[in-house]
Amino acid sequence: MQLLPGFRDFFPDDCARRNYILETWRTVARRYGFVEYDGPVLEPMALYEKKSGGELVGQLFDFTDKGDRHVAMRPEMTPTLARMVAARERDFKKPLKWFCVPQFFRYEKQQRGRLREFYQLNCDIIGEASPAADAELIAVLIDLLRACALGERDFVVRLSSRTAWQEFFAQVGGRPEDEYEFFQIVDKAERLPPEKTDAALAKFGLTAQQVLAFMHSKAATAELAPILADLTARGLGGFVEIDYAIVRGLAYYTGVVFEVFDRGKNERALAGGGRYDKLLSLMSDGQTDLPALGFGMGDVVLANLIHDVPAAQAQLHAWLARERAVDVYVVIAHETRRPEALALVQRLRDAGLRADFPLATAKLGKQFQTAEHLGARHAVLVGDEWPQVKVKTLATRAERLASPDELLSLLTPPKIPVILSGA
Ligand code: HAM
Repeated sequence: MQLLPGFRDFFPDDCARRNYILETWRTVARRYGFVEYDGPVLEPMALYEKKSGGELVGQLFDFTDKGDRHVAMRPEMTPTLARMVAARERDFKKPLKWFCVPQFFRYEKQQRGRLREFYQLNCDIIGEASPAADAELIAVLIDLLRACALGERDFVVRLSSRTAWQEFFAQVGGRPEDEYEFFQIVDKAERLPPEKTDAALAKFGLTAQQVLAFMHSKAATAELAPILADLTARGLGGFVEIDYAIVRGLAYYTGVVFEVFDRGKNERALAGGGRYDKLLSLMSDGQTDLPALGFGMGDVVLANLIHDVPAAQAQLHAWLARERAVDVYVVIAHETRRPEALALVQRLRDAGLRADFPLATAKLGKQFQTAEHLGARHAVLVGDEWPQVKVKTLATRAERLASPDELLSLLTPPKIPVILSGA
């Protein structure tokens, strides 16, 4: 039976690579004070029809369930988050800094960087309108990639603003109700031939040339300047460029928007997000009106970039080696010693060590080979010397005899007591 196109099996190696990304995401998000939440995998179809908009609605895995409800597998988190916050907003101190690492489903054309199932880190800040929140969000985004050993030469945050485009559109007489259609044309303007953009813009009395000229002006608006200044103060200014080509496809964005791309321009976007200051009010029929902003970062493009950047790949491999390695492999010299070996394995595991041993009878040489294969730091031979064991450090080949008690203190360094002054 074949896999469905765009879906993945995660064999142990693939799973370990995925976990490296998820673990890095969680570590860095927490470093910035974000707390984790989650929502359901299945949602009412109407949630996305009303809130996401654009291409995404045509890409849903949707069906009618046995209760005759039109439902969809989640393709993104923002509508769910807005619903959750609107429902219990009073229970939480603002601003909220929340993150999640859900798996999403989109019926997209399978291609490099785009699958039909993927993981996406979401970081969102709710209840803070100042540019300090935008800068904090972009800073965590940059640090998530820096933590994967990616640097200024590898990626760039392209910062833009829908407000700037709204002002541009209003100046040429555009009506607010046509803005989203206009944004969708702008979104595609760099990818389409100018004649096509001209044709789409004709109804607004605009030309592709006018739109492209504004797109390529690099001056920061009054809205973007303080965000850049904040990031520069953190030493992160070199990771960001103003680029009005970014408008984002989703319907709910209101102001600042941004996307992250690899500098080599070999990949699709690594991450994207922005402000969605009206979504909570929309979700709660005006009951909850909180400014909000966030981004999503997918695992697929990030894994491609890590693969292509040697320093990032070296860091991943070092992590994988540490992750796989067992601390101790217990070698059983004679089957008659299996009960003692089992007791020792149990003690080692109780002490928090990763310990493994042969489940079936095997020759000594074979057992040592297995220890090497598992990347064990130590092999411990239970045999003729019992109640002592032979401890072999595999990297140095050094050997010594030790009692099980000595072995444990050798392998588990004593915990340093924390002394609280004045206690
Ligand atoms: P998005 O731009 O649709 O935004 O997705 C964000 C990131 O998810 C993309 O840059 C990409 O890395 C990844 N991604 C999207 N589609 C796929 C796919 N088919 N296969 C692999 N990776 C993919 C959102 O989803 C917004 N809800 C983000 C957000 C959060 N805005 C505010 N808060």
